[in-house]
Amino acid sequence: MQSILGIETSCDETGVALFRAGAGIVSERVYTQLDHAQYGGVVPELASRDHLRKLPGMIDEVLKEAKMTPKDLDAIAYTRGPGLAGALLVGASTAVAMATALGIPTIPVHHMEGHLLSPLLDDPVPDVPFVALLVSGGHTLLVEVEALGTYRILGETLDDAAGEAFDKTARLMGLGFPGGHLVAQLARSGDAHRFEFPRPMVNRPGLDFSFSGLKTHTRALIAQSTPDDFSDIAAGFELAVVETLVHKCRRALKETRLERLVIAGGVSANERLRTALDKALPHQVYYPPLSLCTDNGAMIAWAGWHRRGEAKRTGHIEVKPRWPLDELPPLASDA
Ligand code: KG4
Ligand code: ZN
Repeated sequence: MQSILGIETSCDETGVALFRAGAGIVSERVYTQLDHAQYGGVVPELASRDHLRKLPGMIDEVLKEAKMTPKDLDAIAYTRGPGLAGALLVGASTAVAMATALGIPTIPVHHMEGHLLSPLLDDPVPDVPFVALLVSGGHTLLVEVEALGTYRILGETLDDAAGEAFDKTARLMGLGFPGGHLVAQLARSGDAHRFEFPRPMVNRPGLDFSFSGLKTHTRALIAQSTPDDFSDIAAGFELAVVETLVHKCRRALKETRLERLVIAGGVSANERLRTALDKALPHQVYYPPLSLCTDNGAMIAWAGWHRRGEAKRTGHIEVKPRWPLDELPPLASDA
């Protein structure tokens, strides 16, 4: 298997990329839907329609840039889940229809495995085993990666995901959606120590997270403040999230006695998080390139390459909006 097309449509980013064995990602496109901003969150029906509108043209562009035609493809990888059912169905049905017409197999990919493997697209490449912190808009997971494809969940959020907490703070400040990077930008000019913020769950044993108390605290603080205070609130909020994540990562590394930490997902783009982890931990920490932190097609094509042992010729279209990461089978031995 040489050339794999990757398709990502689990939420509000349409991503398409082409992976070629020996060359890596040779072309890619990401389209971030903008219509959701006015609603302050992703509207599933709008997301599905936008994926449908964008996907065919993006596939053409990616193939053209790689100087390839659909006939040169060996397989099509697509995000089967987790994510929004309607949005996932657009990617899955496009992949299956195209593959059936071409007589090639499809490879269903787990979105969070895509995030988890994305740091392996850049140097230095982490060796297994390692601990992975996956922090996105929908998930906050600490995972023990014994081998690629073999995952044990160490901890997860009991309520909001880390990215969701950033997005809600951004919304309360009227910054826009998704707002993680906007809160981070505003925080740069703020004093993180002017207001006190709780550090959720750090005094309790275990590796689970909870961000709803921090959200309630931030909401109350914003209600009593003026926009002049927002940069200090953004900085204090960001520091609270970052310190909580660092604390749990340190604990996970200690409990598993592993030596390497891999961070991925949208929030792994956060600079304060990267600096704090590098400073606080003696371990080597691995990050995806900034362009691959948020959702993209490259990570799906790349995960598809690792899962090529599961490639199947099928006309069956199935998505898994809920799909625990530890239900994945181990990778085939030659992957
Ligand atoms: O991985 P991703 O693109 O989508 C999901 O799979 O959910 O993550 C998107 C999340 C959003 O919540 C966004 O606000 C957050 O990642 N994010 C950030 C930053 N860049 C994106 N959060 C904090 N700091 C950033 N620089
Ligand atoms: Zn994601």
